Amino acid sequence: MKSSINLVFKKPKLYVLENREYSIVLNTETGKRVLLNNKEITLFRNTPFLKEINDDNDCVKLIFEQDSDLSRLIFKMLKKHVIHLWSAKHKNYIDFDAECAAKHPPTDVFITFGDECNLSCVYCYRDAGLCEKNDKPRDYDLQRLKELIEKVQLMGASTVTFTGGEPMLHSHIFLLGEYAKKLGLRTCMLTNGTLISEDNAYMFACFDVVKISLDSIYPHINDMTRGAGTTEKILHGIRLLKRVGVYVTIESVLTKINYKTIGDTIKSLYLNEKVDNYRASHFIPTGRGSLNFTLSIPEEEIAECNKYVFNEVFGGFGNRPFKDFVKDATIENGMQSTCGAGICELLITLTGDVYPCRSLQSEEYFLGNIFQETLDEIKSKKSFSDIRRALNVEDNTECGECPLKYLCAGGCRAAHAAMSGDLRKNNKTWCKLLKNMKHESIWLGEGVHPYTGEKLTI
Ligand SMILES: C[S@@+](CC[C@H](N)C(=O)[O-])C[C@H]1O[C@@H](n2cnc3c(N)ncnc32)[C@H](O)[C@@H]1O
Ligand code: SF4
Ligand code: SF4
Repeated sequence: MKSSINLVFKKPKLYVLENREYSIVLNTETGKRVLLNNKEITLFRNTPFLKEINDDNDCVKLIFEQDSDLSRLIFKMLKKHVIHLWSAKHKNYIDFDAECAAKHPPTDVFITFGDECNLSCVYCYRDAGLCEKNDKPRDYDLQRLKELIEKVQLMGASTVTFTGGEPMLHSHIFLLGEYAKKLGLRTCMLTNGTLISEDNAYMFACFDVVKISLDSIYPHINDMTRGAGTTEKILHGIRLLKRVGVYVTIESVLTKINYKTIGDTIKSLYLNEKVDNYRASHFIPTGRGSLNFTLSIPEEEIAECNKYVFNEVFGGFGNRPFKDFVKDATIENGMQSTCGAGICELLITLTGDVYPCRSLQSEEYFLGNIFQETLDEIKSKKSFSDIRRALNVEDNTECGECPLKYLCAGGCRAAHAAMSGDLRKNNKTWCKLLKNMKHESIWLGEGVHPYTGEKLTI
């Protein structure tokens, strides 16, 4: 007769995602997960300790037969750290963020060249354009701008991205790109692509990645959001850069108008233009975008949109999906309680003003000035910790019991705030979108296609 085993576990908080042949059991507190087949998930569902049991000690007991299907399932879950043996000394498994992250150097620093722009896209979150409110691209003293780049390097940043407005309107852009490269930074530029010419294409050699905005391969769609005649100019710019061998990523903003053309767009970009990577991000109704709120994808279409975009980008062309897209979309067991704004990401203006991220550039989020204070001094200020706290999922009662809390970490709070009016308040549609995207990432992390349920071979 088989002997039985008697184990005590820390009561787990588990969340199950189901697909055709597989299920994933996720520990919502640690982010650890395990992929189970149909037989295992049935056993899991019939096992009493996984059901809600009230226990004052926050632990549960389980007696099971040695060398049984259940013992193997439990071993598998223990091995993947989805469940934990209880001990009197057990502690919270989440040891991330806050103080520890505050000591880390930023990974991505964005330098904005101001809100001057040759275009006037209908959704622009910076409300950029050639209007009076926007400063003309001033010829800041080159030496001062080099000092700014040096400060970014001294912070320990890995990547510097030039953005705006339109950074190509600035006369020193390539000299600064070259200087940043010389200092060992990874260099990126975000541009609308319309000002790339035969004359300047080769100067992009100083950028490791050039991200060009294009919302659709169809001019009648792209021109609606980015302006009349832009599609042709952008495609011309992409071709010029690809001809000289620049790594080009295309960025689309997903709206109600363009999302159904994303499939054709990426196929054409990949097959005809040979671009290197592609990224679609959702429209956030802020800045000029708040005047064009109706571009938002309606809540009832969010699931369809996510599935469509995922399948199109992931599906691959000739079985070759964008390698980097897959890498970006797959999450490991990374658990976090806030986004990286102010920690991993920073936005700095040409005069040295520091903000937490590109989407939080306004007076209320001003953190300090890098020409007057060190980054450590900025991070030690109360205003810094107040903003960080407002971004923290632990401080957000609305995220309270959400099973994806530590994977989503509250999502982009600026996006929530654009719709709810408050960094701490959630927007229902944005939550739906975040949940869908996290589900996709969790499945990908286990090597299963989130929509077909098939095992992936990549
Ligand atoms: C503000 S632009 C600056 C760089 C450059 N002018 C460009 O358009 O690429 C940076 C990126 O933000 C995107 N963007 C602008 N407004 C947005 C919004 N309301 N929601 C989401 N993305 C937005 C743009 O499409 C672009 O890819
Ligand atoms: S999205 Fe870029 S190109 Fe369009 S108006 Fe804003 S800054 Fe200019
Ligand atoms: S999906 Fe919504 S409720 Fe859940 S953690 Fe993210 S923002 Fe919070």
